[in-house]
Amino acid sequence: MNQAAKKKYRHMDGIGPYDIPLEDYDMSQREPFQNNTFWSFFDRMRQEDPIHYCKDSKFGPFWSVTKFKDIVEVENKPDIYSSEPTIAFLDPNEDFNVPMFIAMDEPKHGVQRRTVQGAVDPRNLAGMESLIRERVCNILDDLPIYETIDWVDKVSIELTGQMLATILDFPQEHRRKLTYWSDVATAVPGPMSIVSSYEESRKILMEECVPAFFNLWQKKKNSPPETSLISMLAHAEETSRMAEENPMEFLGNLILLIVGGNDTTRNSVSGSVLFLNENPKEYDKLRENHGLVNTMVPEIIRYQTPLTHMRRTATKDTILGGKQIHRGDKVILWFVSGNRDEEAIDKPYEFIIDRKNPRYHLSFGFGIHRCMGNRLAEMQLRIVWEEILKRFHKIEVMGEPQRVYSNLIKGYSDLPVRLIPA
Ligand code: HEM
Repeated sequence: MNQAAKKKYRHMDGIGPYDIPLEDYDMSQREPFQNNTFWSFFDRMRQEDPIHYCKDSKFGPFWSVTKFKDIVEVENKPDIYSSEPTIAFLDPNEDFNVPMFIAMDEPKHGVQRRTVQGAVDPRNLAGMESLIRERVCNILDDLPIYETIDWVDKVSIELTGQMLATILDFPQEHRRKLTYWSDVATAVPGPMSIVSSYEESRKILMEECVPAFFNLWQKKKNSPPETSLISMLAHAEETSRMAEENPMEFLGNLILLIVGGNDTTRNSVSGSVLFLNENPKEYDKLRENHGLVNTMVPEIIRYQTPLTHMRRTATKDTILGGKQIHRGDKVILWFVSGNRDEEAIDKPYEFIIDRKNPRYHLSFGFGIHRCMGNRLAEMQLRIVWEEILKRFHKIEVMGEPQRVYSNLIKGYSDLPVRLIPA
């Protein structure tokens, strides 16, 4: 590609999927996600080149896996498609790499996953439900009526921050720190980022996050067991041992729980309001039958797809969908595309709150790494909507949402709304 063409294609801005050759698609760019213009590019890839090779990107060459069935195939072969060294586009920074089991292979992954599994077990979650509901009610009751407010800041961030603080039993007055540390841990440093270097991320996490959790850990260890995540982890034999023998790994797993439950749930809460406004008939159906919240919740998560992708790295030469993959190749699983695959999902572009099989989607991934917090995320969204329906006739979107600048987190930074009481 010559320089002029390269400049023209930059950020794929203002161009349609048929304006450039397929081989020049680079879906690692953040602009198409921020501008919400990426959909038709994935549509064309699924139709014409479902296992697509991008030979040149900021992150080097990579494969895009765009169809539901191919994503499942890769997820089902963790020995060929490794989660190490990372599940992100960018290779880890050698100076600062917090180990997390989401980016580990067997047997280590399984051992560590089992240590925290109990904390998000449905029975344990049931014990937290009433406290979460109480917090949700307080936030909703404090909102001004008929005034334009930013739903992201006033509700989605506030709710997920409070719920996370509840689940972790972290001091409520410092809950925004959880959001902040999660943002720091997932940020790719740069001029438009909240951190300018990995050194800065390291400093923030080591000097603020680690001591805060260490203190909490000590406190919980010396008190009787409770249902909060930290207390469970402090009293479980394996995690206690891990914390003492390998504090970095323990920290990594804590950060994973914070990050996992932060942007993903936050953006599902924001997305749900947007989708119901875009689909007024679905909103009517919901108002007439509040019981539909149960099938709506997984549909919100499919439709939003809060994490666009996960990366795998090939451990050996292999064939995928007829394409030759080489050992060491980066393979990107585009959940956001698989969730709009018409061969797997009926009318995938439609938001249908009473879908027949609403949990059949890829937003939580698939296979041995499938999201551990899926039931917790669904519970939170269910409580939020049950309480919204008791109070408001409509949460009316008043302007265009602002979307985040990321190729991984699919979400919103601003969503102006006004509340119409029931
Ligand atoms: C893994 C999505 C909420 C904790 C994952 C993965 C995805 C995902 C795509 C990777 C799956 C794969 O590689 O196949 C989501 C979405 C959520 C959500 C869309 C909300 C709507 C949560 C919550 C928590 C959590 C609330 C915990 C508090 C985790 C953990 C893993 C994970 C620990 C690693 C699992 C492993 O590697 O075995 N999540 N997540 N997630 N998630 Fe979630």
